[in-house]
Amino acid sequence: MKKNKPLFITFEGGEGSGKTSNCLLLKEYLENKGFKVFLTREPGGASLAETVRKILLDPNSKLTPLSELFLYEAARAQHIKEIIEPALKSGAIVICDRFTDATVAYQGYARGINTGLIGKLNKAASFGLDPALTIYLDVKPEIGLGKAKKLNKESYGKNGDRIEMESLQFHKNVRKGYLAQAKKYPQRIKVIKTDKDTEKTQKLIRKEVDKCLTKF
Ligand code: TMP
Repeated sequence: MKKNKPLFITFEGGEGSGKTSNCLLLKEYLENKGFKVFLTREPGGASLAETVRKILLDPNSKLTPLSELFLYEAARAQHIKEIIEPALKSGAIVICDRFTDATVAYQGYARGINTGLIGKLNKAASFGLDPALTIYLDVKPEIGLGKAKKLNKESYGKNGDRIEMESLQFHKNVRKGYLAQAKKYPQRIKVIKTDKDTEKTQKLIRKEVDKCLTKF
Protein backbone atom coordinates (compact mmCIF):
# COMPACT_ATOMS: atom_id res chain seq x y z
CA MET A 1 0.00 0.00 0.00
CA LYS A 2 1.52 3.33 -1.11
CA LYS A 3 1.61 6.34 1.25
CA ASN A 4 -0.78 9.20 0.42
CA LYS A 5 0.91 12.61 0.26
CA PRO A 6 -0.68 15.05 -2.19
CA LEU A 7 2.21 17.44 -2.72
CA PHE A 8 3.09 19.53 -5.74
CA ILE A 9 6.82 19.93 -6.50
CA THR A 10 8.16 21.72 -9.56
CA PHE A 11 11.58 21.80 -11.20
CA GLU A 12 12.90 24.82 -13.07
CA GLY A 13 16.13 25.72 -14.78
CA GLY A 14 17.72 27.04 -17.94
CA GLU A 15 18.52 24.84 -20.91
CA GLY A 16 20.83 21.94 -20.06
CA SER A 17 20.45 22.32 -16.29
CA GLY A 18 19.80 18.60 -15.78
CA LYS A 19 16.15 18.96 -14.68
CA THR A 20 14.89 15.91 -16.48
CA SER A 21 17.41 13.42 -15.06
CA ASN A 22 17.09 14.93 -11.57
CA CYS A 23 13.28 14.64 -11.73
CA LEU A 24 13.63 10.95 -12.56
CA LEU A 25 16.11 10.36 -9.72
CA LEU A 26 13.84 12.14 -7.25
CA LYS A 27 10.85 10.07 -8.38
CA GLU A 28 12.83 6.89 -7.72
CA TYR A 29 13.91 8.17 -4.27
CA LEU A 30 10.35 9.02 -3.23
CA GLU A 31 8.92 5.76 -4.57
CA ASN A 32 11.51 3.85 -2.56
CA LYS A 33 10.22 5.71 0.50
CA GLY A 34 6.77 4.26 -0.27
CA PHE A 35 5.09 7.31 -1.83
CA LYS A 36 2.88 7.28 -4.88
CA VAL A 37 4.65 9.62 -7.33
CA PHE A 38 3.51 11.09 -10.62
CA LEU A 39 6.05 12.73 -12.92
CA THR A 40 4.90 15.12 -15.60
CA ARG A 41 6.16 18.11 -17.60
CA GLU A 42 5.27 21.45 -19.13
CA PRO A 43 4.53 22.25 -21.81
CA GLY A 44 2.93 18.84 -22.16
CA GLY A 45 1.70 16.13 -19.83
CA ALA A 46 -1.79 15.92 -21.33
CA SER A 47 -2.42 14.77 -24.89
CA LEU A 48 -3.53 18.17 -26.23
CA ALA A 49 -0.72 19.89 -24.33
CA GLU A 50 1.85 17.56 -25.94
CA THR A 51 0.49 18.61 -29.35
CA VAL A 52 0.88 22.27 -28.34
CA ARG A 53 4.45 21.46 -27.15
CA LYS A 54 5.35 20.29 -30.66
CA ILE A 55 4.19 23.65 -32.10
CA LEU A 56 6.04 25.60 -29.40
CA LEU A 57 9.36 23.82 -29.86
CA ASP A 58 9.29 23.44 -33.66
CA PRO A 59 11.97 25.76 -35.13
CA ASN A 60 9.64 26.36 -38.11
CA SER A 61 6.81 27.79 -35.99
CA LYS A 62 6.57 31.53 -36.48
CA LEU A 63 4.97 32.74 -33.26
CA THR A 64 4.53 36.26 -31.94
CA PRO A 65 5.49 36.65 -28.24
CA LEU A 66 1.82 36.92 -27.22
CA SER A 67 0.65 33.87 -29.16
CA GLU A 68 3.59 31.96 -27.66
CA LEU A 69 2.48 33.04 -24.18
CA PHE A 70 -1.13 32.00 -24.80
CA LEU A 71 -0.06 28.59 -26.13
CA TYR A 72 1.99 27.90 -22.97
CA GLU A 73 -0.99 28.95 -20.84
CA ALA A 74 -3.49 26.93 -22.91
CA ALA A 75 -1.34 23.82 -22.54
CA ARG A 76 -1.13 24.50 -18.79
CA ALA A 77 -4.92 24.86 -18.29
CA GLN A 78 -5.46 21.50 -19.99
CA HIS A 79 -2.61 19.86 -18.05
CA ILE A 80 -3.94 21.04 -14.68
CA LYS A 81 -7.49 19.81 -15.18
CA GLU A 82 -6.69 16.60 -17.03
CA ILE A 83 -3.56 15.43 -15.19
CA ILE A 84 -2.28 17.40 -12.18
CA GLU A 85 -5.50 17.89 -10.21
CA PRO A 86 -6.62 14.25 -10.54
CA ALA A 87 -3.12 13.01 -9.59
CA LEU A 88 -3.07 15.20 -6.47
CA LYS A 89 -6.61 14.07 -5.60
CA SER A 90 -5.46 10.46 -5.83
CA GLY A 91 -2.87 11.23 -3.11
CA ALA A 92 0.23 11.31 -5.29
CA ILE A 93 3.27 13.53 -5.01
CA VAL A 94 3.29 15.31 -8.34
CA ILE A 95 6.68 16.32 -9.75
CA CYS A 96 6.38 18.71 -12.68
CA ASP A 97 9.32 19.49 -14.98
CA ARG A 98 8.71 23.27 -15.40
CA PHE A 99 5.65 25.30 -14.42
CA THR A 100 4.56 28.94 -14.01
CA ASP A 101 8.02 30.30 -13.03
CA ALA A 102 9.20 29.30 -16.52
CA THR A 103 6.61 31.62 -18.06
CA VAL A 104 7.81 34.53 -15.93
CA ALA A 105 11.46 33.82 -16.86
CA TYR A 106 11.06 33.03 -20.58
CA GLN A 107 8.04 35.07 -21.73
CA GLY A 108 8.51 37.82 -19.11
CA TYR A 109 12.22 38.47 -18.57
CA ALA A 110 13.46 37.13 -21.92
CA ARG A 111 10.64 38.00 -24.36
CA GLY A 112 9.79 41.21 -22.54
CA ILE A 113 6.06 40.67 -21.94
CA ASN A 114 4.69 42.52 -18.91
CA THR A 115 5.16 40.30 -15.86
CA GLY A 116 1.94 41.63 -14.30
CA LEU A 117 -0.03 40.23 -17.23
CA ILE A 118 1.91 36.96 -17.01
CA GLY A 119 1.13 36.70 -13.29
CA LYS A 120 -2.60 37.03 -14.02
CA LEU A 121 -2.54 34.49 -16.85
CA ASN A 122 -0.44 32.07 -14.79
CA LYS A 123 -2.95 32.27 -11.98
CA ALA A 124 -5.91 31.71 -14.30
CA ALA A 125 -4.34 28.82 -16.25
CA SER A 126 -3.13 27.03 -13.10
CA PHE A 127 -6.44 27.63 -11.29
CA GLY A 128 -4.43 29.20 -8.48
CA LEU A 129 -2.37 26.07 -7.80
CA ASP A 130 1.03 26.95 -6.34
CA PRO A 131 3.87 24.45 -5.88
CA ALA A 132 4.74 23.57 -2.27
CA LEU A 133 8.38 23.50 -3.38
CA THR A 134 10.27 24.59 -6.48
CA ILE A 135 13.78 23.37 -7.16
CA TYR A 136 15.60 25.82 -9.42
CA LEU A 137 18.68 24.22 -10.96
CA ASP A 138 21.01 27.07 -11.72
CA VAL A 139 23.43 26.79 -14.63
CA LYS A 140 25.12 29.53 -16.64
CA PRO A 141 23.71 29.51 -20.21
CA GLU A 142 27.26 29.59 -21.56
CA ILE A 143 27.54 26.03 -20.20
CA GLY A 144 23.99 24.66 -20.29
CA LEU A 145 22.94 25.75 -23.77
CA GLY A 146 25.63 23.74 -25.55
CA LYS A 147 24.73 20.62 -23.54
CA ALA A 148 21.02 21.00 -24.38
CA LYS A 149 21.65 21.47 -28.09
CA LYS A 150 23.85 18.37 -28.17
CA LEU A 151 21.09 16.33 -26.48
CA ASN A 152 18.41 17.66 -28.81
CA LYS A 153 20.50 17.36 -32.01
CA GLU A 154 18.64 14.32 -33.31
CA SER A 155 15.19 15.84 -32.88
CA TYR A 156 15.85 19.43 -33.96
CA GLY A 157 19.27 19.67 -35.64
CA LYS A 158 22.44 21.36 -34.38
CA ASN A 159 20.79 24.68 -33.45
CA GLY A 160 18.34 23.00 -31.09
CA ASP A 161 14.59 23.64 -30.67
CA ARG A 162 12.83 26.98 -31.23
CA ILE A 163 13.72 28.26 -27.76
CA GLU A 164 17.27 26.89 -27.62
CA MET A 165 17.94 28.71 -30.93
CA GLU A 166 17.48 32.07 -29.20
CA SER A 167 20.56 34.23 -28.50
CA LEU A 168 22.87 33.83 -25.52
CA GLN A 169 21.51 37.16 -24.22
CA PHE A 170 17.94 35.74 -24.29
CA HIS A 171 19.06 32.82 -22.13
CA LYS A 172 20.99 35.14 -19.79
CA ASN A 173 17.73 37.07 -19.32
CA VAL A 174 15.91 33.80 -18.57
CA ARG A 175 18.43 33.12 -15.80
CA LYS A 176 18.02 36.68 -14.49
CA GLY A 177 14.26 36.05 -14.36
CA TYR A 178 14.61 32.82 -12.43
CA LEU A 179 17.04 34.34 -9.93
CA ALA A 180 14.68 37.30 -9.41
CA GLN A 181 11.78 34.89 -8.78
CA ALA A 182 13.91 32.94 -6.30
CA LYS A 183 14.71 36.16 -4.45
CA LYS A 184 11.01 37.07 -4.34
CA TYR A 185 9.85 33.65 -3.09
CA PRO A 186 12.73 32.29 -0.96
CA GLN A 187 10.41 30.04 1.06
CA ARG A 188 9.20 28.20 -2.02
CA ILE A 189 12.06 28.38 -4.54
CA LYS A 190 15.33 26.70 -3.60
CA VAL A 191 18.33 27.51 -5.78
CA ILE A 192 20.72 24.62 -6.38
CA LYS A 193 23.82 25.20 -8.47
CA THR A 194 24.53 22.41 -10.92
CA ASP A 195 28.29 22.84 -11.09
CA LYS A 196 28.63 19.66 -9.02
CA ASP A 197 28.16 16.10 -10.28
CA THR A 198 24.62 14.69 -10.55
CA GLU A 199 25.01 12.66 -7.38
CA LYS A 200 25.87 15.75 -5.29
CA THR A 201 23.13 17.82 -6.93
CA GLN A 202 20.58 15.06 -6.26
CA LYS A 203 21.68 14.87 -2.62
CA LEU A 204 20.95 18.61 -2.19
CA ILE A 205 17.58 18.21 -3.92
CA ARG A 206 16.59 15.32 -1.65
CA LYS A 207 17.52 17.38 1.41
CA GLU A 208 15.10 20.14 0.35
CA VAL A 209 12.37 17.64 -0.51
CA ASP A 210 12.74 15.85 2.84
CA LYS A 211 12.40 19.21 4.63
CA CYS A 212 9.27 19.93 2.63
CA LEU A 213 7.79 16.49 3.43
CA THR A 214 8.00 17.20 7.14
CA LYS A 215 6.44 20.67 6.68
CA PHE A 216 3.35 19.63 4.68
P1 TMP B 1 12.21 21.59 -21.89
O1 TMP B 1 11.67 21.91 -20.56
O2 TMP B 1 11.94 20.22 -22.33
O3 TMP B 1 13.60 22.06 -22.02
O4 TMP B 1 11.43 22.45 -23.04
C1 TMP B 1 10.48 23.36 -22.82
C2 TMP B 1 10.88 24.71 -23.38
O5 TMP B 1 9.80 25.60 -23.23
C3 TMP B 1 12.07 25.32 -22.66
O6 TMP B 1 12.89 25.98 -23.60
C4 TMP B 1 11.43 26.39 -21.78
C5 TMP B 1 10.20 26.77 -22.53
N1 TMP B 1 9.08 27.25 -21.71
C6 TMP B 1 8.67 28.57 -21.83
O7 TMP B 1 9.24 29.34 -22.61
N2 TMP B 1 7.60 28.99 -21.10
C7 TMP B 1 6.90 28.15 -20.25
O8 TMP B 1 5.93 28.58 -19.61
C8 TMP B 1 7.35 26.77 -20.14
C9 TMP B 1 6.62 25.84 -19.24
C10 TMP B 1 8.44 26.38 -20.88
